[in-house]
Amino acid sequence: MLFKNRLSIDNVRNNIVGINKKIMLRNGKKTNYISFDNAASTPTLVPVLTKINEFLEWYSSIHRGTGYKSVISTRTYDDSRKIVADFLNADFEKNAVIYVKNSTEAINKLSYRLQLDRNDVVISSLMEHHSNDLPWRNKCKTLFINVLEDGRLDLDDLEKKLNSNKGKVKLVAVTGCSNVTGYINDIHYIASLSHTYGAKILIDAAQLAPHRSINMKGKGSDDYLDFVVLSGHKLYAPFGIGVLVGPKSTFQSGEPEYTGGGTIISVSQNNIYYAAPPEREEAGSPNIVGAVALAEAIKAINEIDMTEIKKHEIELTKYFLERLTKIPRIKIYSNTKEALIPNTAGVISFNIPEFSHSLLACLLAYEGGIGVRNGCFCAHPYVHRLLNLSPADIRKLQQDMMFGRLKNVPGLVRVSFGMYNTIQEIDIFMDVLNYIIDNKKSICDEYMYISSTGKYEPKNLPKNIYSEFRL
Ligand SMILES: Cc1ncc(COP(=O)(O)O)c(C=O)c1O
Repeated sequence: MLFKNRLSIDNVRNNIVGINKKIMLRNGKKTNYISFDNAASTPTLVPVLTKINEFLEWYSSIHRGTGYKSVISTRTYDDSRKIVADFLNADFEKNAVIYVKNSTEAINKLSYRLQLDRNDVVISSLMEHHSNDLPWRNKCKTLFINVLEDGRLDLDDLEKKLNSNKGKVKLVAVTGCSNVTGYINDIHYIASLSHTYGAKILIDAAQLAPHRSINMKGKGSDDYLDFVVLSGHKLYAPFGIGVLVGPKSTFQSGEPEYTGGGTIISVSQNNIYYAAPPEREEAGSPNIVGAVALAEAIKAINEIDMTEIKKHEIELTKYFLERLTKIPRIKIYSNTKEALIPNTAGVISFNIPEFSHSLLACLLAYEGGIGVRNGCFCAHPYVHRLLNLSPADIRKLQQDMMFGRLKNVPGLVRVSFGMYNTIQEIDIFMDVLNYIIDNKKSICDEYMYISSTGKYEPKNLPKNIYSEFRL
């Protein structure tokens, strides 16, 4: 019998596709790539890839196919929904697990399917990714929960807004975890409060799901989560899949925003009988491979154990902050209080005044082979607030951006950890950062600003630097 090593937080690194890939630096030397951009996308887990390869031998069209492989594929696709529901501790009988491309599509779908009108109120927050902000703005009156000085949600402001809009608030739509500061919101408190005022709650779990367990049922009678969305590519399964989970009743009436094959029971020239959710909501041929990938990633994460993932990521965050706070003049926009670290995912944004965010991100990449992200992370209003920009500053910034004047556009550098990152990688990051700071003048002389992109690039690069992979 083949003995399979149990996946654990200690061996997860060996189960990440591409973990030992060497990449080339500006000076032509090769080094191990360090990915500190997991808030954007996580790499693939080996068991996910293995499962997909295995499944592809059985892959076929689903639901309407009659052949052997269709039966297996249909069963696999349908079974995957229960795995997702269990991962979120959702009631599988009452809820629909609807597959979409990603969290953005999931939130857009919900914004259509709630059948909102202009007098309805949705309360989102200043902390949101644009994906949980823009879909609401053009469908109803959208209010934004304020944030406190340190970037956390102002829950008193939420209560005020719920109270002054009593009876009109259809939904409170908040992120479980900020993609800029890593703050984890008290979602069950927010759920209770929202339910007290008759509003439903949506948790954007794109950023929360890789770092903490989610419990849609809640612990009490009123702290359940009505809707949850997440993305596979942030959960070690980058195969174009996302999920919207919510009560079947929400999707039983009204037209889905996309209609077509797969969504109906029967159509005549004169009428349409829609299928029950989730099929009603999944127009066209579905992403079966994505569903397999997501289900397998969830199984792997369950095996590793979310408690262990949390523990490890807290250790990384503590150690990183301990070292980062020692950098002279650094400004950290995420939480630095030790007591709050358990309520923060490993997402840390900062600036070092003598470098622009885009220059520093470029230097980390080309001098150290470290992938981070810089800018405003699709959360412009939140970053504006963290940077204390005045309305006049924001107007000027928007004009500059519209006219392509990108050099001084404000932003932050963001480091974000996944469960496979290590203390040793943080040590390398700190060495590289200190080397860049200590040799600022001579290093920066080797770089140039490209006005058309607003980014920096080395003046000279080895010819074959990006020759490793091509289509
Ligand atoms: C908090 C949050 N919500 C939503 C999204 C959008 O996710 P996706 O691009 O997978 O739709 C992101 C992506 O970074 C995010 O961080």
